Amino acid sequence: MPNATISGTGSFVPDQVVTNDDLVSIYGIETTDEWIQKRTGIKERRFAPEGMENSDMGLQASLRALDMAGLKATDLDMLIYATLSPKHSFPGDGVYLQNKLGLCDGGDATFAPAMDIRNQCSGFLYGLGTATAMVQSGACKHVLLVGSELHSAALELSTSGRSVATLFGDGAGAIIISATEEDKGIRHWHLGADGRGADVLRQRVWDTSKRPFITLDENGNGIIPREELYCNMDGRQVFKNAVQRMCFAVLRVCQEQGIQGEDVDLWLFHQANMRINQYVAKQLGIPEHKLLHNIDRYGNTTAATIPLLMDEAVRSGQLKPGMKIACVAFGSGFTWGASLIDW
Ligand code: ACO
Repeated sequence: MPNATISGTGSFVPDQVVTNDDLVSIYGIETTDEWIQKRTGIKERRFAPEGMENSDMGLQASLRALDMAGLKATDLDMLIYATLSPKHSFPGDGVYLQNKLGLCDGGDATFAPAMDIRNQCSGFLYGLGTATAMVQSGACKHVLLVGSELHSAALELSTSGRSVATLFGDGAGAIIISATEEDKGIRHWHLGADGRGADVLRQRVWDTSKRPFITLDENGNGIIPREELYCNMDGRQVFKNAVQRMCFAVLRVCQEQGIQGEDVDLWLFHQANMRINQYVAKQLGIPEHKLLHNIDRYGNTTAATIPLLMDEAVRSGQLKPGMKIACVAFGSGFTWGASLIDW
């Protein structure tokens, strides 16, 4: 069985920086920089310009990852796209990216399969588990995994939406998972879900159990109430479950792999909330210098947080060959995951 290793990483964030103060001055949200920083660690985030598609960000991140891996898009056997903010209800963004990578035209057309993953903040780690299994089974040699979010289009940027809107930002990360005979790569992963938490963090938009599935006006146009249109979250429930599940997932992968927490050189946690991550790190005895974060600059980019963090760590030289890293995420569903990787 080949090992599955990460042969390239890439990321992309839009140019527009939106500080906490901008949320007040531009969008009129009644909040303060102090309130947001104290509770979440977020100082600023990026917002995509109108016209930019989720898969445009995914494309830029993918091209950078391909370049690092020394591969062409036509070398890819499969694409996996994790997002909770796709351009449309369907199809998913995977096929938009596949077409933009030039895999459907001319002599280069490979028509590589494109799969979409709907696991919110854990989407990247669900994708990593899937890609690893595809590579280790021999079915694929190179898999592109993208986590990309364009949240800003669907945030309620007003005081009534402030408990959610102040948390999220736009961005994309991509990695290539490749087969290797070398003794390295993704060693172990664990994924979990607890559907009892499905309504704690959600964005419903419509309900297909209802007739009609969206309330219609007299002209047949849909009317979506605010609480269905935007993300709805019980923040305290999320916080409580996140720390429990993240600790559990880390302990489980370490135990199953026969390693101790001290053996891990760098920890890449999902960037939902600095306080969640500090709490988990304290519970697990992880020293501060081993815990990477960029939530202060990007906010919560959901499926993109871990690959963004990974790409920054690789390009800054912080993440070096031979290091052992651990990735952990928790999110809507509830869903969670953890992975151990020898870089
Ligand atoms: N600025 C100012 N005041 C605010 C803001 C804001 N941005 N957001 C909420 N408030 C107000 C509320 O209106 C409320 O006012 P009230 O008492 O007059 O009604 C008060 O602050 C307390 O609101 P809570 O929601 O109870 O605030 P809490 O202390 O729980 O903090 C937070 C909210 C930061 C979201 C917290 O619950 C948390 O950290 N939860 C974790 C959830 C999380 O990080 N989710 C990210 C996405 S999920 C994921 O990726 C895993």
